[in-house]
Amino acid sequence: MGTQAFRTDFALDEEEDRFFISGVEKAERSRHTYEHQARKKKVIVGVAIGVGSVALVALILGLACMPPQFVISTGDNFYPSGLNSAEDPQFSVSFSRVYSGPGLQVPWYAVMGNHDYGDNVDVNLLSEGTCLQAPASPAECAGKCCISPWWQITPELAARDTRWNATMGGVVTRRFPLQAGEDGRNRSLDILFMDTVPLIYQYQDRPWSSFLYGFKSQDADAIRASLQRQLNESYAGGNGSSWRLVVGHHPVRSYGRHCTQPDSNECEDMAFMRPLLQRFRVAAYVNGHDHDQQLIKSPSDPVHYIVSGAGSDTRPGEFDGLDPELRSQDALFLSDTQGFVAVVVSGNSMRVHYYTTDMSGPAYTRVIMQPSW
Ligand SMILES: *[C@@H]1O[C@H](CO)[C@@H](O)[C@H](O)[C@H]1NC(C)=O
Ligand SMILES: *[C@@H]1O[C@H](CO)[C@@H](O)[C@H](O)[C@H]1NC(C)=O
Ligand SMILES: *[C@@H]1O[C@H](CO)[C@@H](O)[C@H](O)[C@H]1NC(C)=O
Ligand SMILES: *[C@@H]1O[C@H](CO)[C@@H](O)[C@H](O)[C@H]1NC(C)=O
Repeated sequence: MGTQAFRTDFALDEEEDRFFISGVEKAERSRHTYEHQARKKKVIVGVAIGVGSVALVALILGLACMPPQFVISTGDNFYPSGLNSAEDPQFSVSFSRVYSGPGLQVPWYAVMGNHDYGDNVDVNLLSEGTCLQAPASPAECAGKCCISPWWQITPELAARDTRWNATMGGVVTRRFPLQAGEDGRNRSLDILFMDTVPLIYQYQDRPWSSFLYGFKSQDADAIRASLQRQLNESYAGGNGSSWRLVVGHHPVRSYGRHCTQPDSNECEDMAFMRPLLQRFRVAAYVNGHDHDQQLIKSPSDPVHYIVSGAGSDTRPGEFDGLDPELRSQDALFLSDTQGFVAVVVSGNSMRVHYYTTDMSGPAYTRVIMQPSW
């Protein structure tokens, strides 16, 4: 059965450039969750599936017959508190061995989430001295438990699985050339990968702020300035032909719990982004953090806000208390089911498909035209 889980003879449409966005939070657990769902519902779509050895995203990619050019991970890549060395076994257990399908042997571009910085660290490990609390350099960490996002960007980690390609502590623009559109114009897709963890004010006094490359060594103003500079460069340098997306862990717009609680509204810390995204014609902002899927598009804001944080753990009932009137204003799609987002770019249009585990085809699709306002 296992060998039929994936089609390997995918017929790629030459004119389309595809990629996938996934929240891989708690990846190891997703296998069990999804196996359970599949058995319970007895819904197996299209092909015979050996569910015992594949993860949520891997499985759906196989079913969808759409191998991506690359995958984006929206942060909180390793639970509960990131990696503690470049040899940390979690890298194999919740990445390499989980996303093993043939369609997934492509670059994985990851940003950092709060858990990658050490959020949810067991404070006993710190008080007992089991893990280092405030190392000043990677050299001090040799052979010790030393939780840090740093391990995710080291060449030693990428050497263990060459797909892995993460960024930390700043903004990195990656430019992907696109196939010429119907109008014969050459376009590119510029994706700005941004570390949003240092921008969230309430994290300032957490124990993990003094971990290696934690808050105490981060410069939030520099990250904000770098975002503006790189957006400006992409906008000016693309001569009107480049698409722009920004990817970060924390939401700018969300109906999930991180932005609906009065005492900790993380969208407030990210609100500075909205005028920048609009000014530099960003098609969509993409994030994780909330363990659900959303597409928000307000009539008064040309930017689409894509939440894709449901690759593993979800929060059933996340949107139950939401005022239907509020929701109807600008929430085009909300789902508390596991899933991922597939994006297909072709010329001046971008199709954004939301996949969930309860449906074989996309649960929702939105076509976004290249911004020209
Ligand atoms: C990560 O991706 C960039 C392209 O955006 C590439 O230049 C770099 O070599 C990649 N790093 C690894 C470790 O694959
Ligand atoms: C698009 O790029 C191709 C390959 O680089 C080039 O040959 C062609 O002239 C370009 N077309 C336009 C309209 O710039
Ligand atoms: C964009 O870049 C140009 C030229 O480098 C500069 O004059 C302008 O002030 C920048 N705009 C913003 C909003 O950063
Ligand atoms: C920019 O685009 C315009 C048309 O949209 C074209 O006339 C001009 O040559 C382009 N400039 C560059 C540097 O590609």
